Amino acid sequence: VITPAILCGGYGTRLWPLSRKSYPKQFVPLLDEGTLFQASARRLSGEGPGFAFDAPMLLTSSDFRFLVSEQLMEIGIDPGAILLEPSGRNTAPAVLVAALCQARKDPQGILLVAPSDHAIPDTAPFHAAVARGLEAVERGELVTFGITPDRPETAYGYLELSALPAGDGAPIPLAGFREKPDRAGAEAMLAAGTYLWNAGIFLFRAADMIAAYEAHAPGLIAPVRAALEEAETDLGFLRLAPEPWAEAENISVDYAVMEKAENLSAVPLEAAWSDLGDWQAIWGASARDETGVATRGAVTAIGCRDSLLRSEAPELELVGIGLENILVVAMQDSVLVADMSRAQDVKLAVEALKKKG
Ligand code: GDD
Ligand code: MG
Repeated sequence: VITPAILCGGYGTRLWPLSRKSYPKQFVPLLDEGTLFQASARRLSGEGPGFAFDAPMLLTSSDFRFLVSEQLMEIGIDPGAILLEPSGRNTAPAVLVAALCQARKDPQGILLVAPSDHAIPDTAPFHAAVARGLEAVERGELVTFGITPDRPETAYGYLELSALPAGDGAPIPLAGFREKPDRAGAEAMLAAGTYLWNAGIFLFRAADMIAAYEAHAPGLIAPVRAALEEAETDLGFLRLAPEPWAEAENISVDYAVMEKAENLSAVPLEAAWSDLGDWQAIWGASARDETGVATRGAVTAIGCRDSLLRSEAPELELVGIGLENILVVAMQDSVLVADMSRAQDVKLAVEALKKKG
């Protein structure tokens, strides 16, 4: 049995104006009918080859508690624990609290930590990779899932393989883990050919992850443990205690633990994958016409190429003429117009707007 632990507490600022502080990208219909969060919960339910998923553990901000429970109800999935973080402390405290919560039931219990905002259109190869990872978990490894890189992306972590994949999908021990390199570092790793992108999905036994925190991030243990022990049950949610939680360092699991851990393995994930991190990635994962134009809602595109045009409000007509490599996302109260190559800079817009108040 594998317990999924779904991280759904992020704010997705690079997908403004569709993704909002009160309604971040994992809870918005981005590509299909349902939301990315619902697609993730579905992907992490039922059975895979040789294993079954237990009810999911959800890790989220108290701001999103009703989005989580309502969206699960809509798709008929019963949650296990829903842990509410009183403040955003990034993923390191969240992963640790998931491991501690699982360890209370069974220290040898296996967790699959997964983000809630990625697209993995084909479930079968994903489940096959998870099944392969179990081999390494049995040996006490922390298992990552690797994507073959095709560009020097600086927004991802890189997994350094100790040997080239044999093509049989078996877990490969890692020589290292490097989170979000600079451009030169990313180019060097792409050229070396012995690195995979970290998909942000981790498979491990609870006790092994706790041991990794004890070795590499010991300062997190006391506050996170206290936040769990002093948590209050409230309408089926487990509300972590705010004071100890606020003491936990605000850091991602990648920097706090994965970059330092020595018992890492990677399973190559032979499946289409996108982290949908910005509007360019959404454009790439959307259905496009023969001129490379992707639209959603009431849109008329005349003579446009390689552009994304989305009207996200009812009865909001959006017309583009002669656009090339342009992103347009129109909401009732705000409109984004950006050059495709500047998609990552949308987070600057959010900061600028925050300053304006
Ligand atoms: N519960 C909770 N609490 N979830 C959080 C929090 C938090 O404070 N902060 C972020 N998350 C969730 C996000 O919603 C997302 O689903 C997941 O955790 C990962 O966080 P991101 O902020 O999106 O991480 P990233 O994209 O910068 O980097 C990670 O993912 C990359 C692949 O997409 C790293 O693991 C990289 O190494 C990896 O390549
Ligand atoms: Mg991400």
